[in-house]
Amino acid sequence: MVGITLEEITKKFGNFTALDKINLKIEDKEFMALLGPSGSGKSTLLYTIAGIYKPSSGKIYFNGKDVTETPPKDRNVGLVFQNWALYPHMRVFKNIAFPLELKKSSRNEIEKKVREVAKMLHIDHLLDRYPWQLSGGQQQRVAIARALVKEPDVLLLDEPLSNLDALLRLEVRAELKRLQKELGITTIYVTHDQAEALAMADRIAIIREGKILQVGDPDEVYYKPMYKFVAGFLGSPPMNFIHAEVEGGNIRIYQSKISVPKQYREIIKRLEITEVLFGFRPHDAEIIRGEREGIKGEVYSFEPLGREQIVTIAVNGDVFVKVFAPEGEHFSFGEKVTIVPNEERIILFDKKTEKALEYFP
Ligand SMILES: Nc1ncnc2c1ncn2[C@@H]1O[C@H](COP(=O)(O)OP(=O)(O)O)[C@@H](O)[C@H]1O
Ligand SMILES: [Mg+2]
Repeated sequence: MVGITLEEITKKFGNFTALDKINLKIEDKEFMALLGPSGSGKSTLLYTIAGIYKPSSGKIYFNGKDVTETPPKDRNVGLVFQNWALYPHMRVFKNIAFPLELKKSSRNEIEKKVREVAKMLHIDHLLDRYPWQLSGGQQQRVAIARALVKEPDVLLLDEPLSNLDALLRLEVRAELKRLQKELGITTIYVTHDQAEALAMADRIAIIREGKILQVGDPDEVYYKPMYKFVAGFLGSPPMNFIHAEVEGGNIRIYQSKISVPKQYREIIKRLEITEVLFGFRPHDAEIIRGEREGIKGEVYSFEPLGREQIVTIAVNGDVFVKVFAPEGEHFSFGEKVTIVPNEERIILFDKKTEKALEYFP
């Protein structure tokens, strides 16, 4: 039973601020993903929670108890590094048993626990092998088994799947999600892969340049992004953004005009907004031929993906927008079309702060 509270965590390396006043609460048994681009501070935050790094300021609590000064070995966390770091001269059994040997557990107990955790991760037939005799996926399971064997209160994973090939990544992803819920172990999972975070986590914290921009469940951060950065980081292809101007009850997008979506009429008036970033996801628009209110453009390219196709449309010649279309629909290069975004799914951002209008007070 461990909930974690981070309070105003700042971490500096010399003059450089890697973490800037991080506040985050992770509930007991929760699967929290830390998602952000490379260099955003994800690993630094994970190692600070593990106790490997000491924060420059701020506090860390496990179950309300201040552990900021507690050394890593007394925090009872299981840590899986990105490169797994198995001991090459030790067989799998020894690799997994290592944390228990450090704890001076009895022979019997070691034997029992290693076999138990190996079985859970489907590597119980590999205990006599050396790491170099294992596939990437198997090595990765050994690293997870080693983190789990001492029954940690908290499991910390740093991009554990990034060294696996795409197919294996999907497989282990589903398995790991299930294992986490079965064990009911509070888990913090670092990744730069938005699909992984959306697929696995109960909640996602999106990090950029050492700051948390938004925390929410997958639906929330996907459908209600607080910033353009969050909207552009989630989804594949990401959300489309077009510069637009507000003119009375309309939004002008280059030569096209769209009525201001219902949900924004009040706030646009109240804040007297004249310029916005107009956002919509590739799945949240239709491509229409003929007269309809929408964004006019020309088909630039189209990519069939099996069940559907991604159509790239040039608006005003050089602003590219991506929209999904059903399989089988025929497009030709240069064809004139109209993009009709689903009104309810349009997201408008303030041009200056890039914050979503709906989050304005
Ligand atoms: N030990 C360190 N000394 C100096 N700078 C560091 C150190 N560790 C990380 N950094 C810097 O802090 C920033 C965040 O790094 P990191 O937490 O590893 O990012 P991420 O895991 O999100 O890719 C990067 O700019 C990195 O260069
Ligand atoms: Mg990292």
